[in-house]
Amino acid sequence: MLKNKKIIVGVTGGIAAYKSCDIVSKLIKLDAEVNVIMTAASVNFVSPLTFSSLSNNPVVCDMFENPVDWNIEHISLAQKADVFLIAPATANIIGKVANGIADDMLSTTIMASTAKIVFAPAMNTKMYENEILQENISKLKKRGYYFIEPDSGRLACGDIGVGKLRDTSEIVDYVVSLTCNKQDLKGKKILITAGPSVEPIDAVRYITNRSSGKMGYSIANAALDRGAEVTLISGPTTINPPNRAKFIPVLSGQDMYRAVLDNFNDQEIVIKAAAVSDYRIENPTKHKLKKKDDNLTLSLVRNPDILKELGEMKNSKILVGFAAETDDIIENAKCKVKTKNLDFIVANDINEPDAGFAVDTNIVYIIDKNEKIEKIDKTSKIDIANIILDKIVSIDIN
Ligand code: CTP
Repeated sequence: MLKNKKIIVGVTGGIAAYKSCDIVSKLIKLDAEVNVIMTAASVNFVSPLTFSSLSNNPVVCDMFENPVDWNIEHISLAQKADVFLIAPATANIIGKVANGIADDMLSTTIMASTAKIVFAPAMNTKMYENEILQENISKLKKRGYYFIEPDSGRLACGDIGVGKLRDTSEIVDYVVSLTCNKQDLKGKKILITAGPSVEPIDAVRYITNRSSGKMGYSIANAALDRGAEVTLISGPTTINPPNRAKFIPVLSGQDMYRAVLDNFNDQEIVIKAAAVSDYRIENPTKHKLKKKDDNLTLSLVRNPDILKELGEMKNSKILVGFAAETDDIIENAKCKVKTKNLDFIVANDINEPDAGFAVDTNIVYIIDKNEKIEKIDKTSKIDIANIILDKIVSIDIN
């Protein structure tokens, strides 16, 4: 499965380092070529000999103790690798990379790498929840680094909480999905909407919908990886747009409506992950409203239902909607498939933990126009993005 794929595994100094042996072994069984780089601290937990025996390659531990040619070689390796997995990733390595520090073999190789870089953090719960670490993680995510979130459970230090290295099989699956270079959407024109809409009340206030944009941006990235030409129309988010996409930032539902219609005609596939406000303020003012003693009543008028209009002029295009529901999720979603003339809808129950807004995972139901229902259990938004694209590819072929 991973034949001709080059994976670098960076091992840092945490008790979970022993689990990396299993990761390397599983990657080798999938025919990957694996090179292991260990930090000085990690050799206290596992011997480099274990990793060199498992990977059938020499293991690099420290910049100055190794042959000089490795300094050159590690740069070329870093550039040839498909995926660079750091597991376990300590707060220290995450902090170094987030802040541009390159002071040992692992951190310098990461800095020189053009591979997809993925961290699998493992540490004490309080450390993991530390705001500085979380800021470093957000900073890296915004720059396109991948994270395999740790699990909760009993940690080596005796605490119970988040911080356990994710199951090694899940880590390996994640690496496999990152190496998958299917080009099954090559040249396909896909329009994706993402994020919230923002409806101004006055110069400083607005109403909006909760949406981080993560799901829509994950679909955009996955579609780009699979060769599609992506137009991403997005309300304001904190995520950096992929620079390979045509990116159109918008604010209000009406802005999104115009941008979508302007770009609709030459698209083959449209995926509407945006959370569009159904209403806008009737008379927003350019000035700041001053408070009075009385209550304030805002008059709201309907925004266009963009997806419904697209459904009316769909022809042979593939149209996919999203639905975030709190009640009667399946029934509501089925109804939207019909009224908006969709090929399928991706519905999520926003009451469930680890699903919906701002988290990296989701739990969704895919309901198609024949009312076939498929439940996708908790998985990363990138995996869900690829499942959605797989479904689109299967419709496109038939
Ligand atoms: N949508 C849209 N334009 C709107 C509202 C929603 O294009 N004005 C799209 C969303 O992008 C999503 C789908 O329609 O793909 C469903 O959105 P959702 O907010 O779940 O449903 P609504 O149709 O707005 O119905 P309700 O709010 O009553 O659940």
